Amino acid sequence: MKGKLFGLFMAPLMAAAIAMPAFGADKPIKIGLSISDFETERWPVEEAIMKKLAADQGAELISQQANHDPKLQNDQIQNMILQGVDVIIIIAEDGAAAASAVEEAGRDGIPCIAYDRLVKSDKLAAYISFDNVEVGRTQARGVLDKVNKGNFALLGGSPTDNNAILFRKGQMEVLQPLIDKGDIKVVADQWVENWAPANATKIMENILTAEANKIDAVVASNDGTALGALQAMKAQGLAGKVPISGQDATAAGCKSIVENELTMTVYKDVRLLSPMAIDMAIKFAKKEPVEGLKDFTLEELTLDKSLSGSVPCKFLKVVGVNKDNVYEEVVKSGFQKYDDIYKDIPEDQRPPRI
Ligand code: GAL
Repeated sequence: MKGKLFGLFMAPLMAAAIAMPAFGADKPIKIGLSISDFETERWPVEEAIMKKLAADQGAELISQQANHDPKLQNDQIQNMILQGVDVIIIIAEDGAAAASAVEEAGRDGIPCIAYDRLVKSDKLAAYISFDNVEVGRTQARGVLDKVNKGNFALLGGSPTDNNAILFRKGQMEVLQPLIDKGDIKVVADQWVENWAPANATKIMENILTAEANKIDAVVASNDGTALGALQAMKAQGLAGKVPISGQDATAAGCKSIVENELTMTVYKDVRLLSPMAIDMAIKFAKKEPVEGLKDFTLEELTLDKSLSGSVPCKFLKVVGVNKDNVYEEVVKSGFQKYDDIYKDIPEDQRPPRI
């Protein structure tokens, strides 16, 4: 009987005890954070935010950056699995290549969160980012506010970054009607390897040579590559004359905006995305339910009909920023420092110090 009672009541409790990882001071939740690179301004910033938030919640965060090397990133993730992480947050260099690492972690029961950039696997626990198609629409609109006719050059992001595909989708939604009408002619359309500013400079130099500087607007996909392109445009006396879009509201990007070179950027408040990632990671580790996720198919997230399955997602809003609202949106919100933006603007032409 006792045996039977034990079987009836204790066994399931024991099983639960075994299933429920006993997190506490002696066994803090271990979060792995795998980062594509540190070349882009935002990634070290978000690593620092996530490290602090994890510590505040008694969790341990181990992070590594892969220097734009997809194979190294997968090796680093495998290493994190061996180190016994309970959950992994991934900023993928290559959304396709990272899928095998997510599936390997899944086989070990380790949930993975794709952060900002999609990993093309339906084994993800969640994909969290900003509305990346709206980023593209906002960029195209920001340029069209200045020029809506003529020769346009398109600078896409890194071809292995699924976000670059979604930015371009949004850009073309806005530009295509004007292209069809013949108002706009796309004279160059290039994608910038690794989102590297130096690559963007070279690409823009070649475009300006090929087009004899007859470029009326540039739809670039982030601040880093836009500022790279502006180097080439500056050398031809076109900086400030030819509108160009960016993204990320970086310090350098916003400074270039108040100096009338970069036309606009897209503000994505990463101070909202990073806490969401840590909260979700801790819940997934504790096998607690996560609210507010909505399923999207891999096909609609990648525009690739050959991909099946879906992923639970959450997307945050984005804000277009130009010279008129950079102070309100980016400086007064504390996203960037006043001095970083206005240091080369004469004192009497600056807005009030924060
Ligand atoms: C994208 C990201 C952008 C931009 C870019 C370069 O995936 O969404 O914010 O920074 O990468 O790293």
